[in-house]
Amino acid sequence: MLDRPYTLLSCALSIAGYLGSVAPRRLALSNDADLDRVDAVRASCDAILVGAGTVRKDNPRLLVRSKARRDERTARGLAPSPIRVTVTERVELDARADFFTTGDTETLVYVASQQVVDAGSRLGPVATVVDGGNPIEMRTISEDLAARGVQRLMVEGGGKVHTQFLTDNLADELQLVVAPFFVGDSRAPRFVSDGLFPWNPDRRATLAEVCQIGDVVLLRYALSPRFWND
Ligand SMILES: NC(=O)c1ccc[n+]([C@@H]2O[C@H](COP(=O)([O-])OP(=O)(O)OC[C@H]3O[C@@H](n4cnc5c(N)ncnc54)[C@H](OP(=O)(O)O)[C@@H]3O)[C@@H](O)[C@H]2O)c1
Repeated sequence: MLDRPYTLLSCALSIAGYLGSVAPRRLALSNDADLDRVDAVRASCDAILVGAGTVRKDNPRLLVRSKARRDERTARGLAPSPIRVTVTERVELDARADFFTTGDTETLVYVASQQVVDAGSRLGPVATVVDGGNPIEMRTISEDLAARGVQRLMVEGGGKVHTQFLTDNLADELQLVVAPFFVGDSRAPRFVSDGLFPWNPDRRATLAEVCQIGDVVLLRYALSPRFWND
């Protein structure tokens, strides 16, 4: 078994590279056709990971929406939707959030070792709390997911999580969707924050596909040799 799952990072950006806005509500960047494409990608994965910031702001359900795709997974002996995964240091997560309560799928929460007991009492009824070490490294999460049988992991943001997967060289593929508008507020969350990225002016990533989907464009980057065997 490989030591970590094939890992696909997925996100939608405004033209200026922002992942969202400062408004309390989630910013819609994608369009219906692209959301359906993302649904197909979700259905092809064993687990989907988002950071706790995204759970708090967007409260995503991360379920496969299409009944046909859920049925196809069930026919293969899988749960209708992939395992949901999040990671938190502060454990300020609402156990009543849709992220924890909707759908018929397992939810994993990685917390630092010293938080396991507290997190278990708060989230134990709705999720499996996992000791992520101290500090929590994305590699530790990746390896633990692999040990749980996850072969294909989708990372759906936000920026802090994407940054760690990229700077830790744990990503095999990046699917970037660019929406046709600007967010003109530097307080808005960006795709990545500061860090040393394996792809830089001296080592350019490989652009594997460009696809127009209505008014957005999908850019697919191959970030590791595993991309070509996927
Ligand atoms: N456009 C898109 O495709 C897309 C997708 C997803 C999200 N978003 C947007 O992105 C924004 C959220 O992004 P974000 O960067 O602020 O947050 P994020 O990456 O979703 O989550 C960051 C949080 O995750 C936890 N975390 C991350 N790494 C950790 C580690 N190594 N150890 C322990 N905990 C760790 C911490 O949670 P605690 O604070 O709980 O300790 C941290 O504050 C929202 O505005 C959302 O709408 C956009």
